[in-house]
Amino acid sequence: MNILVTGAYGQLGSEISSLAADYPGVQFFFTDYDTLDITDGAGIKRFFEMTKPGMVINCAAYTAVDQAEKEPEKAAGLNAGGPGLLAGACRDYDARLIHVSTDYVFNGRSCVPYDEEFQADPQGVYGLTKLEGENLVREILPGAIIVRTSWLYSPFGHNFVKTMLRLGRERASLRVVFDQTGTPTYARDLAGAILHMVRSAEGPAGWKPGIYHYSNEGVCSWYDFAREIFDIAGVPCVVEPIRSAEYPTPAQRPSFSVLDKGKIKAAYNLAIPWWQDSLKDCIKRLHT
Ligand SMILES: NC(=O)c1ccc[n+]([C@@H]2O[C@H](COP(=O)([O-])OP(=O)(O)OC[C@H]3O[C@@H](n4cnc5c(N)ncnc54)[C@H](OP(=O)(O)O)[C@@H]3O)[C@@H](O)[C@H]2O)c1
Repeated sequence: MNILVTGAYGQLGSEISSLAADYPGVQFFFTDYDTLDITDGAGIKRFFEMTKPGMVINCAAYTAVDQAEKEPEKAAGLNAGGPGLLAGACRDYDARLIHVSTDYVFNGRSCVPYDEEFQADPQGVYGLTKLEGENLVREILPGAIIVRTSWLYSPFGHNFVKTMLRLGRERASLRVVFDQTGTPTYARDLAGAILHMVRSAEGPAGWKPGIYHYSNEGVCSWYDFAREIFDIAGVPCVVEPIRSAEYPTPAQRPSFSVLDKGKIKAAYNLAIPWWQDSLKDCIKRLHT
């Protein structure tokens, strides 16, 4: 099978790329902005004509949550228009699509984990454009799979783990918010889960369209996350808990964004690693 991975230089795309060798017999096409701009309909058509993908994994996105407030059109082009174009190409060329979305489609005011049926109510441009992308994909290609995830980190790109490790080595103490609760997601685990879904589609379980939630197991605040990063990495930086009000950002952050993973675990018989275990693996890779 030919699999097209878009946004392949990003965190998730890089992890899918690092696992590709485990999938002999699959021809992956790893593309990013320079080789396949997902907002360029003609370019997508040309790419599909040339490579005939049977599956597309869309990891391309506009992920700068605060910057999105200043660039709503750019964010919409990438998070909504692009997925719409990919869904259209998948429909026209009879390919399957796995599209990745976010916990930011919710308003963050729940106090129980969000399942896939929970009413979306995004609070900022990023979440709104990601929801528009989901809706376009579902409308154009009802057979698509959408995987929502949260708090993504990896050895690649920009993320909380790498920022904390850098700042923790520069400073004696750091102030980190403790009133936002969620679950970190190791991009390598998510990449493995997505490739498991791809492989399952070929077997008796088949292709199971719909929305799924995926994060690691467990729950923490950003403060807990920072402390765990420093504990594992042996960084002697003191972490001081602060309220979100003391750290204002252009885009509002959800105070609760824990995802209920029951559906994906049952549908794909998935065992999901605990967030601290995965964090240890990421930090080990960053240090070797
Ligand atoms: N990061 C998180 O905490 C988080 C949380 C929840 C959900 N998600 C979702 O998870 C998915 C993967 O996120 P990620 O953190 O891996 O994202 P990422 O690291 O920001 O990667 C996105 C990739 O898409 C590329 N890209 C930008 N414009 C493009 C275009 N027009 N055409 C093709 N590629 C383009 C980016 O290139 P440039 O870097 O050059 O722009 C980047 O390589 C996204 O759907 C995101 O919304 C992320």
